Amino acid sequence: MTTPTAAAPPSLSADALCFTLNGELERPQSWAPTTTLLSYLRATGRTGSKEGCAEGDCGACAVAIADNSAEGPIFRATNSCILLLGSLHGRAVLTVEGLTQAGEAAHPAQAAMVAALGSQCGYCTPGFVMSLVEATYRPTLAAPGWRREDQLAGNLCRCTGYRPIREALDAVAGSRPADRFAAALCSPAPAAALHVVRDGERFDQPATLDEALALRAADPAARVVAGATDLGLEVTLKGRRWPALLSLEAIAALRGAWVEGQTLVVGATTRLADLEDATEHSIPALHRMLRYFGARAIKSRGTIGGNLCTASPIGDLAPVMLALGAELVAARVSGTRSIPADDFWTGYRSTALTPDELLTHIRVPLPGPRAHQAAFKLSRRRELDISTVAAAFHLELDASGRVERARLAYGGMGPRPLRARGAEDALVGATFDESSVRAAAAALEAELRPLSDHRGSASYRMRVAKNLLLGFLLERQKDGLRAGAAALDLRHTGTLALDAAPGARP
Ligand SMILES: Cc1cc2nc3c(=O)[nH]c(=O)nc-3n(C[C@H](O)[C@H](O)[C@H](O)COP(=O)(O)OP(=O)(O)OC[C@H]3O[C@@H](n4cnc5c(N)ncnc54)[C@H](O)[C@@H]3O)c2cc1C
Ligand code: FES
Ligand code: FES
Repeated sequence: MTTPTAAAPPSLSADALCFTLNGELERPQSWAPTTTLLSYLRATGRTGSKEGCAEGDCGACAVAIADNSAEGPIFRATNSCILLLGSLHGRAVLTVEGLTQAGEAAHPAQAAMVAALGSQCGYCTPGFVMSLVEATYRPTLAAPGWRREDQLAGNLCRCTGYRPIREALDAVAGSRPADRFAAALCSPAPAAALHVVRDGERFDQPATLDEALALRAADPAARVVAGATDLGLEVTLKGRRWPALLSLEAIAALRGAWVEGQTLVVGATTRLADLEDATEHSIPALHRMLRYFGARAIKSRGTIGGNLCTASPIGDLAPVMLALGAELVAARVSGTRSIPADDFWTGYRSTALTPDELLTHIRVPLPGPRAHQAAFKLSRRRELDISTVAAAFHLELDASGRVERARLAYGGMGPRPLRARGAEDALVGATFDESSVRAAAAALEAELRPLSDHRGSASYRMRVAKNLLLGFLLERQKDGLRAGAAALDLRHTGTLALDAAPGARP
């Protein structure tokens, strides 16, 4: 075992996969474009990383990847079970086997788990330890707060109980010891360009957008992949393979968020964890939806573009984009166009993108001085769960409290994310109060036709949709109808209910 390095491997070439694993060069020989890091690790004897669910839900397979983030360079804890091996080209990966060299004391994350008695059967422990490794070097975790609360949300333990593990987290979070790992984090290597054909299947990972668009034009049937937190499930659960994959991992120009005038421009492959940081103060409604989106390990890989392009009717960000009036920028070789969020989702899991286009950026208007916005997610558990109903609301009120503009959007209420235009019409021109909310709720009943499935019946979803609108009103009233304000407590205990649904948790 050697000192981990986060620098790019020397002599990196675009025709052979190469990355560093625990500081040593790794040149996989036997792999396919759909091979996951976990299956590669275990097939090559690195069995410290465990397989629990194989769908990103339990954290037993967590590894850490040196990466730049909105917080600075960090080791991102990531679920290796749904991480495509090819996307690691050029990068530095740390697994539990790399934490302690012969003759060395245990890494502080391991020592903290031992001291807190944080392990019983031990199956989950390597995954927890890798999340604790990320926590150890994260600059923003030194003080308690929501980031620390969020750190372990994706790691499940069936036997120890979470209190001791939480104590281990508190012992190391943000401690940033000046050790060989911290030294290795100075300048994390980005993913690099890779173009290979393995057993007749192509894996292209271009480094520029122009190259990606040319590849898209040459083979519109190639499957695009960003973080693979959706696509990875098709691999592990359905055994899917594709003749060609086009990975956006190495295109730096598609990553990051910045303000242009009154708009937040977000690159399509911006990781959700970074977007969560970027919107904490600028767009609180989007930030709040991201707080309750998956777990940090998913948000550390998943991208905003992947969430919008997968076009799930229960995807969490689509309603927010609809309510906030976002524009989605698509590019092809011949140029770019801007698609209003209203026109982007065309049906069940389909979008307005043509086969030769890529989503490159999302333009989200910043809330103006008269904007009232909120986003809600109702799911069976608070962390790491798919929405039963997601909702996002945007109102502009005049000085007398009358609604001038309304955009109300829902997920989980139809075959695609949609606006509730009848309810919007019921609000515009009225004072935003219980009476206008009741009228809007009646309009929802008339215009939305939710499905029944294992997450909730149609009637349950309808009650929830109406009550979330009421929750929005209560939240605004609690806040004195102050524009731009966002309360982060989702657990409203307002006594009003338009239609009481047993178990509803707005
Ligand atoms: C455990 C777990 C929990 C999850 N929790 C949530 C949740 O709470 N809420 C939620 O909404 N989702 C959730 N998801 C789903 C998923 O994480 C998100 O949809 C994520 O944002 C997808 O991003 P990605 O980069 O990983 O997409 P990928 O899997 O890489 O791609 C998804 C799809 O989009 C296409 N695509 C990606 N980028 C582009 C682009 N730029 N242009 C054109 N097409 C593109 C791909 O071809 C693919 O079809 C969860 C997933 C898992 C595994
Ligand atoms: S095995 Fe459960 S998250 Fe990977
Ligand atoms: S120690 Fe057994 S599952 Fe966590």
